[in-house]
Amino acid sequence: MKPNSQNGRDKAVRLSDDDFAFICDFVYQSTGIVLNDNKREMVYRRLTRIVRERKLNSFSDYCQLLKQQGAQEKDYFINAITTNLTSFFREQHHFDYLVNEELPRLMAEKTVQANGKKRLRIWSSASSTGEEPYSIAISVLEAMQEQLSSWDAKILATDIDSNVLAAGKAGIYEDRRIESLSEKFKQRYFHRGVGKNSSNVRVDKKLSDLITFKQLNLLHEWPMKGEFDVIFCRNVIIYFDKPTQQELFTRYYDLLKPGGLLMLGHSENLGEFQQHFNTIGRTMFRKSK
Ligand SMILES: C[S@@+](CC[C@H](N)C(=O)[O-])C[C@H]1O[C@@H](n2cnc3c(N)ncnc32)[C@H](O)[C@@H]1O
Repeated sequence: MKPNSQNGRDKAVRLSDDDFAFICDFVYQSTGIVLNDNKREMVYRRLTRIVRERKLNSFSDYCQLLKQQGAQEKDYFINAITTNLTSFFREQHHFDYLVNEELPRLMAEKTVQANGKKRLRIWSSASSTGEEPYSIAISVLEAMQEQLSSWDAKILATDIDSNVLAAGKAGIYEDRRIESLSEKFKQRYFHRGVGKNSSNVRVDKKLSDLITFKQLNLLHEWPMKGEFDVIFCRNVIIYFDKPTQQELFTRYYDLLKPGGLLMLGHSENLGEFQQHFNTIGRTMFRKSK
Protein backbone atom coordinates (compact mmCIF):
# COMPACT_ATOMS: atom_id res chain seq x y z
CA MET A 1 0.00 0.00 0.00
CA LYS A 2 1.26 3.51 -0.82
CA PRO A 3 2.42 5.75 2.00
CA ASN A 4 -0.20 8.36 2.94
CA SER A 5 -0.58 10.53 -0.13
CA GLN A 6 -2.06 13.27 2.04
CA ASN A 7 1.21 13.50 4.04
CA GLY A 8 2.51 17.03 4.07
CA ARG A 9 -0.88 18.42 3.06
CA ASP A 10 -2.78 18.02 6.29
CA LYS A 11 -0.71 16.41 8.97
CA ALA A 12 -3.26 17.33 11.63
CA VAL A 13 -5.51 14.52 10.40
CA ARG A 14 -3.59 11.50 9.15
CA LEU A 15 -5.07 8.37 7.69
CA SER A 16 -2.77 5.48 8.56
CA ASP A 17 -2.70 2.22 6.62
CA ASP A 18 -4.30 0.44 9.58
CA ASP A 19 -7.13 2.96 9.86
CA PHE A 20 -7.72 2.87 6.10
CA ALA A 21 -7.81 -0.95 6.20
CA PHE A 22 -10.32 -0.83 9.09
CA ILE A 23 -12.51 1.66 7.19
CA CYS A 24 -12.40 -0.42 3.99
CA ASP A 25 -13.45 -3.50 5.95
CA PHE A 26 -16.19 -1.59 7.81
CA VAL A 27 -17.57 -0.22 4.53
CA TYR A 28 -17.46 -3.65 2.90
CA GLN A 29 -19.21 -5.35 5.81
CA SER A 30 -21.86 -2.61 6.06
CA THR A 31 -22.59 -1.90 2.41
CA GLY A 32 -20.82 -4.37 0.13
CA ILE A 33 -18.91 -1.44 -1.39
CA VAL A 34 -15.34 -2.39 -2.19
CA LEU A 35 -12.83 0.38 -1.52
CA ASN A 36 -9.26 0.01 -2.67
CA ASP A 37 -6.14 2.11 -2.60
CA ASN A 38 -7.22 4.36 -5.43
CA LYS A 39 -10.27 5.39 -3.36
CA ARG A 40 -7.99 6.48 -0.52
CA GLU A 41 -8.10 10.18 -1.39
CA MET A 42 -11.88 10.07 -1.72
CA VAL A 43 -12.20 8.35 1.69
CA TYR A 44 -9.78 10.86 3.17
CA ARG A 45 -11.77 13.85 1.86
CA ARG A 46 -15.18 12.55 2.89
CA LEU A 47 -14.14 11.38 6.33
CA THR A 48 -12.02 14.41 7.21
CA ARG A 49 -15.26 16.34 7.33
CA ILE A 50 -16.75 13.91 9.85
CA VAL A 51 -13.60 13.84 11.98
CA ARG A 52 -13.76 17.64 12.18
CA GLU A 53 -17.52 17.69 12.84
CA ARG A 54 -17.05 15.20 15.65
CA LYS A 55 -14.19 17.38 16.99
CA LEU A 56 -11.86 14.39 16.97
CA ASN A 57 -8.09 14.65 16.66
CA SER A 58 -7.45 11.76 14.31
CA PHE A 59 -8.90 9.08 12.06
CA SER A 60 -7.83 6.57 14.72
CA ASP A 61 -10.20 8.27 17.16
CA TYR A 62 -12.94 8.06 14.54
CA CYS A 63 -12.23 4.35 13.97
CA GLN A 64 -12.53 3.85 17.73
CA LEU A 65 -15.87 5.66 17.67
CA LEU A 66 -17.08 3.41 14.86
CA LYS A 67 -15.95 0.33 16.81
CA GLN A 68 -17.63 1.44 20.02
CA GLN A 69 -20.78 3.09 18.67
CA GLY A 70 -21.01 1.29 15.31
CA ALA A 71 -24.80 1.34 15.06
CA GLN A 72 -25.24 5.03 15.92
CA GLU A 73 -22.41 6.27 13.80
CA LYS A 74 -22.93 3.87 10.92
CA ASP A 75 -25.81 5.66 9.18
CA TYR A 76 -23.91 8.93 9.14
CA PHE A 77 -20.75 7.22 7.96
CA ILE A 78 -22.54 5.34 5.14
CA ASN A 79 -24.21 8.54 3.96
CA ALA A 80 -20.77 10.14 3.73
CA ILE A 81 -19.18 7.26 1.87
CA THR A 82 -21.79 6.47 -0.80
CA THR A 83 -21.53 7.96 -4.28
CA ASN A 84 -24.96 9.27 -5.26
CA LEU A 85 -24.42 10.61 -8.78
CA THR A 86 -27.65 10.44 -10.79
CA SER A 87 -29.84 12.49 -13.12
CA PHE A 88 -33.31 12.59 -14.67
CA PHE A 89 -33.56 10.18 -17.61
CA ARG A 90 -29.99 9.02 -17.13
CA GLU A 91 -29.39 6.39 -19.81
CA GLN A 92 -32.37 7.58 -21.79
CA HIS A 93 -32.67 4.35 -23.83
CA HIS A 94 -34.08 2.53 -20.77
CA PHE A 95 -36.96 5.00 -20.51
CA ASP A 96 -37.54 4.98 -24.28
CA TYR A 97 -37.84 1.21 -24.13
CA LEU A 98 -40.20 1.43 -21.17
CA VAL A 99 -42.52 3.94 -22.88
CA ASN A 100 -42.42 2.55 -26.40
CA GLU A 101 -42.11 -1.20 -25.88
CA GLU A 102 -42.45 -2.60 -22.37
CA LEU A 103 -45.41 -0.67 -20.97
CA PRO A 104 -47.50 -1.00 -24.17
CA ARG A 105 -46.76 -4.75 -24.12
CA LEU A 106 -47.81 -5.03 -20.46
CA MET A 107 -50.92 -2.96 -21.14
CA ALA A 108 -51.91 -5.39 -23.87
CA GLU A 109 -51.03 -8.57 -21.95
CA LYS A 110 -51.93 -8.00 -18.31
CA THR A 111 -55.24 -9.20 -16.98
CA VAL A 112 -57.47 -7.68 -14.30
CA GLN A 113 -56.81 -8.84 -10.69
CA ALA A 114 -59.32 -9.60 -7.92
CA ASN A 115 -59.26 -5.88 -6.98
CA GLY A 116 -60.59 -5.03 -10.46
CA LYS A 117 -57.28 -3.51 -11.57
CA LYS A 118 -54.23 -4.55 -13.53
CA ARG A 119 -51.04 -4.74 -11.47
CA LEU A 120 -47.75 -3.02 -12.29
CA ARG A 121 -44.71 -3.07 -10.01
CA ILE A 122 -41.40 -1.38 -10.77
CA TRP A 123 -38.42 -1.23 -8.38
CA SER A 124 -35.70 1.39 -8.48
CA SER A 125 -33.27 -0.46 -6.24
CA ALA A 126 -30.59 2.23 -5.78
CA SER A 127 -32.73 5.28 -6.21
CA SER A 128 -30.32 7.89 -4.84
CA THR A 129 -31.94 11.37 -4.72
CA GLY A 130 -35.02 10.26 -6.67
CA GLU A 131 -34.34 11.27 -10.25
CA GLU A 132 -34.49 7.63 -11.39
CA PRO A 133 -37.87 6.73 -9.81
CA TYR A 134 -39.37 10.07 -10.92
CA SER A 135 -38.18 9.39 -14.48
CA ILE A 136 -39.86 5.98 -14.24
CA ALA A 137 -43.05 7.63 -12.96
CA ILE A 138 -43.04 10.10 -15.87
CA SER A 139 -42.58 7.17 -18.27
CA VAL A 140 -45.51 5.32 -16.70
CA LEU A 141 -47.75 8.39 -16.95
CA GLU A 142 -46.71 9.08 -20.53
CA ALA A 143 -47.30 5.49 -21.64
CA MET A 144 -50.54 4.85 -19.75
CA GLN A 145 -52.15 8.29 -19.71
CA GLU A 146 -55.85 8.06 -18.84
CA GLN A 147 -55.64 4.23 -18.64
CA LEU A 148 -53.61 4.59 -15.43
CA SER A 149 -56.81 4.81 -13.35
CA SER A 150 -57.56 1.17 -14.17
CA TRP A 151 -54.13 0.11 -12.92
CA ASP A 152 -52.76 -0.69 -9.49
CA ALA A 153 -49.37 0.79 -10.42
CA LYS A 154 -46.60 1.27 -7.86
CA ILE A 155 -42.96 2.21 -7.99
CA LEU A 156 -40.74 1.22 -5.07
CA ALA A 157 -37.64 3.39 -4.61
CA THR A 158 -34.98 2.16 -2.18
CA ASP A 159 -31.48 3.17 -1.19
CA ILE A 160 -29.16 2.54 1.74
CA ASP A 161 -28.45 6.26 2.22
CA SER A 162 -31.01 8.03 4.43
CA ASN A 163 -30.03 11.51 3.21
CA VAL A 164 -30.67 10.79 -0.46
CA LEU A 165 -33.94 9.08 0.40
CA ALA A 166 -35.10 12.19 2.27
CA ALA A 167 -34.19 14.29 -0.78
CA GLY A 168 -36.10 11.91 -3.04
CA LYS A 169 -39.16 11.99 -0.81
CA ALA A 170 -39.08 15.79 -0.71
CA GLY A 171 -39.04 15.86 -4.53
CA ILE A 172 -37.52 19.34 -4.71
CA TYR A 173 -34.69 19.97 -7.17
CA GLU A 174 -32.61 22.89 -8.35
CA ASP A 175 -34.02 23.87 -11.73
CA ARG A 176 -30.71 23.12 -13.48
CA ARG A 177 -31.36 19.43 -12.72
CA ILE A 178 -34.28 19.46 -15.17
CA GLU A 179 -32.60 21.73 -17.75
CA SER A 180 -32.32 18.98 -20.36
CA LEU A 181 -35.97 17.91 -20.13
CA SER A 182 -38.48 18.94 -22.78
CA GLU A 183 -40.71 21.97 -22.10
CA LYS A 184 -43.66 19.58 -22.19
CA PHE A 185 -42.23 17.49 -19.33
CA LYS A 186 -41.19 20.56 -17.35
CA GLN A 187 -44.69 21.99 -17.54
CA ARG A 188 -46.51 18.72 -16.99
CA TYR A 189 -44.50 17.33 -14.11
CA PHE A 190 -42.71 20.15 -12.24
CA HIS A 191 -43.79 23.30 -10.39
CA ARG A 192 -41.47 26.25 -9.96
CA GLY A 193 -41.03 27.62 -6.45
CA VAL A 194 -41.74 31.24 -5.59
CA GLY A 195 -39.68 33.88 -3.80
CA LYS A 196 -36.49 32.44 -2.38
CA ASN A 197 -37.44 29.07 -3.87
CA SER A 198 -37.70 30.39 -7.41
CA SER A 199 -34.60 28.48 -8.52
CA ASN A 200 -36.14 25.21 -7.35
CA VAL A 201 -38.81 22.98 -8.81
CA ARG A 202 -41.09 20.51 -7.04
CA VAL A 203 -42.31 17.32 -8.67
CA ASP A 204 -46.03 17.10 -9.36
CA LYS A 205 -48.14 15.05 -6.95
CA LYS A 206 -49.13 12.63 -9.70
CA LEU A 207 -45.48 11.49 -9.76
CA SER A 208 -44.99 11.23 -6.00
CA ASP A 209 -48.33 9.41 -5.64
CA LEU A 210 -46.88 6.53 -7.64
CA ILE A 211 -43.68 6.17 -5.59
CA THR A 212 -42.88 4.78 -2.14
CA PHE A 213 -39.39 5.61 -0.82
CA LYS A 214 -37.90 3.15 1.69
CA GLN A 215 -34.46 2.61 3.16
CA LEU A 216 -33.04 -0.74 2.12
CA ASN A 217 -29.54 -2.16 2.21
CA LEU A 218 -29.29 -4.49 -0.79
CA LEU A 219 -27.08 -6.79 1.28
CA HIS A 220 -29.79 -7.32 3.87
CA GLU A 221 -33.05 -9.21 3.67
CA TRP A 222 -35.57 -7.80 1.18
CA PRO A 223 -39.02 -7.50 2.76
CA MET A 224 -40.90 -7.24 -0.57
CA LYS A 225 -43.11 -10.20 -1.35
CA GLY A 226 -44.73 -9.68 -4.75
CA GLU A 227 -42.98 -10.02 -8.07
CA PHE A 228 -41.77 -7.05 -10.10
CA ASP A 229 -42.36 -6.37 -13.77
CA VAL A 230 -39.24 -4.22 -14.07
CA ILE A 231 -36.23 -3.76 -11.79
CA PHE A 232 -33.73 -0.95 -12.16
CA CYS A 233 -30.38 -1.92 -10.65
CA ARG A 234 -28.25 0.78 -12.18
CA ASN A 235 -24.82 2.06 -11.26
CA VAL A 236 -24.70 0.32 -7.91
CA ILE A 237 -23.36 -3.21 -8.43
CA ILE A 238 -20.27 -1.64 -9.97
CA TYR A 239 -19.22 -0.85 -6.37
CA PHE A 240 -19.53 -4.51 -5.28
CA ASP A 241 -17.25 -7.52 -5.78
CA LYS A 242 -18.14 -10.41 -8.11
CA PRO A 243 -19.54 -12.78 -5.43
CA THR A 244 -21.83 -10.01 -4.09
CA GLN A 245 -22.92 -9.14 -7.64
CA GLN A 246 -23.76 -12.77 -8.44
CA GLU A 247 -25.69 -13.17 -5.18
CA LEU A 248 -27.70 -10.01 -5.94
CA PHE A 249 -28.44 -11.15 -9.50
CA THR A 250 -29.87 -14.40 -8.08
CA ARG A 251 -32.11 -12.37 -5.77
CA TYR A 252 -33.21 -9.94 -8.51
CA TYR A 253 -33.98 -12.95 -10.71
CA ASP A 254 -36.14 -14.52 -8.00
CA LEU A 255 -38.07 -11.28 -7.47
CA LEU A 256 -38.76 -10.67 -11.16
CA LYS A 257 -41.87 -12.02 -12.88
CA PRO A 258 -41.17 -14.52 -15.65
CA GLY A 259 -40.54 -12.27 -18.64
CA GLY A 260 -39.67 -9.37 -16.31
CA LEU A 261 -37.04 -6.81 -17.18
CA LEU A 262 -33.74 -6.01 -15.44
CA MET A 263 -31.98 -2.75 -16.26
CA LEU A 264 -28.29 -2.36 -15.40
CA GLY A 265 -26.02 0.67 -15.52
CA HIS A 266 -23.93 1.55 -18.56
CA SER A 267 -20.74 -0.15 -17.36
CA GLU A 268 -22.36 -3.14 -15.66
CA ASN A 269 -23.00 -6.66 -16.90
CA LEU A 270 -24.51 -9.89 -15.61
CA GLY A 271 -21.30 -11.91 -15.90
CA GLU A 272 -22.00 -15.61 -15.53
CA PHE A 273 -25.62 -14.88 -14.67
CA GLN A 274 -26.22 -13.78 -18.27
CA GLN A 275 -27.35 -17.33 -19.17
CA HIS A 276 -30.57 -16.84 -17.15
CA PHE A 277 -31.64 -13.75 -19.11
CA ASN A 278 -32.13 -12.76 -22.73
CA THR A 279 -30.40 -9.57 -23.76
CA ILE A 280 -32.98 -7.30 -25.36
CA GLY A 281 -30.90 -4.16 -25.76
CA ARG A 282 -27.99 -2.26 -24.29
CA THR A 283 -27.86 -3.20 -20.55
CA MET A 284 -31.48 -4.48 -20.71
CA PHE A 285 -32.17 -8.10 -19.83
CA ARG A 286 -35.37 -10.16 -19.83
CA LYS A 287 -35.90 -13.07 -17.46
CA SER A 288 -36.89 -16.16 -19.47
CA LYS A 289 -40.59 -17.04 -19.25
C1 LIG B 1 -24.37 6.16 -8.31
S1 LIG B 1 -25.89 6.03 -7.44
C2 LIG B 1 -26.94 5.38 -8.72
C3 LIG B 1 -28.28 6.07 -8.76
C4 LIG B 1 -29.21 5.63 -9.89
N1 LIG B 1 -29.51 4.23 -9.82
C5 LIG B 1 -28.63 5.98 -11.24
O1 LIG B 1 -28.18 5.08 -11.96
O2 LIG B 1 -28.61 7.17 -11.59
C6 LIG B 1 -25.58 4.59 -6.42
C7 LIG B 1 -26.54 4.47 -5.24
O3 LIG B 1 -26.38 3.19 -4.66
C8 LIG B 1 -26.58 3.30 -3.27
N2 LIG B 1 -26.01 2.14 -2.58
C9 LIG B 1 -24.71 1.84 -2.38
N3 LIG B 1 -24.59 0.70 -1.69
C10 LIG B 1 -25.86 0.26 -1.44
C11 LIG B 1 -26.39 -0.86 -0.76
N4 LIG B 1 -25.61 -1.79 -0.18
N5 LIG B 1 -27.74 -0.98 -0.69
C12 LIG B 1 -28.55 -0.05 -1.27
N6 LIG B 1 -28.10 1.03 -1.93
C13 LIG B 1 -26.76 1.19 -2.01
C14 LIG B 1 -25.90 4.62 -2.92
O4 LIG B 1 -26.37 5.17 -1.70
C15 LIG B 1 -26.23 5.48 -4.14
O5 LIG B 1 -27.34 6.32 -3.91
